Amino acid sequence: MRLVASQLRPLGPACTHRKRQVTLIYERVNASNWDRFAHYVHRMERVFPMRLRCSYEQLREEFIHPMNVGFVVCDDSPIAYGLAQPILRCDFPGVDEEFQNDKTFYMSSCVVMGEQQKRGISTRLREMRMDEGRKLGYERFTAHIRTGMTNTPHRVIRTFPRWYDFGSFDFVELL
Ligand SMILES: CC(C)(COP(=O)(O)OP(=O)(O)OC[C@H]1O[C@@H](n2cnc3c(N)ncnc32)[C@H](O)[C@@H]1OP(=O)(O)O)[C@@H](O)C(=O)NCCC(=O)NCCS
Repeated sequence: MRLVASQLRPLGPACTHRKRQVTLIYERVNASNWDRFAHYVHRMERVFPMRLRCSYEQLREEFIHPMNVGFVVCDDSPIAYGLAQPILRCDFPGVDEEFQNDKTFYMSSCVVMGEQQKRGISTRLREMRMDEGRKLGYERFTAHIRTGMTNTPHRVIRTFPRWYDFGSFDFVELL
């Protein structure tokens, strides 16, 4: 799904999330600090199969786009990222028209590196991206999440049993 965005939004401050004696820093990414994170985010993208991976240039465009919301989570170095953007157009068959036309904020990508998983980082990243979306006036939120994830209150719109050979994913409305 390629998305086009259309609205300016304020930048949020960095915040912290204490876990297992380690203070993780959740930092909002934009054009002014992207270069600091680019290499790490590009490397994290390797978790996705080739056909789903964004190039260095695509990642840059997504993260510095003024209508998108991106966060990077840092320990000693970046260990996770989350990106979200408004849906202006969407050609997914069976997707409710109400999700288009700049009415919906889509959690477009999230990666938490292996040893940092299952600590609530993606949950926190989702909450932060939704908070930013709400500040922009969005009331509906969607995402592709792994089938069976129980930590996310959601309504399944459509299931993709083989999402680019990456496993089974549900396209959901986040509640
Ligand atoms: C999918 C992915 C982002 C999840 O990240 P994560 O940080 O491990 O997610 P969370 O820790 O927030 O939640 C994962 C599980 O940990 C549990 N959890 C949440 N907070 C927790 C905490 N404080 N302590 C222990 N477990 C916790 C959740 O209940 C959830 O369990 P569930 O799988 O039964 O629903 C991560 O596995 C990943 O990067 N995968 C590869 C890329 C990918 O698939 N991205 C998604 C598509 S864009």
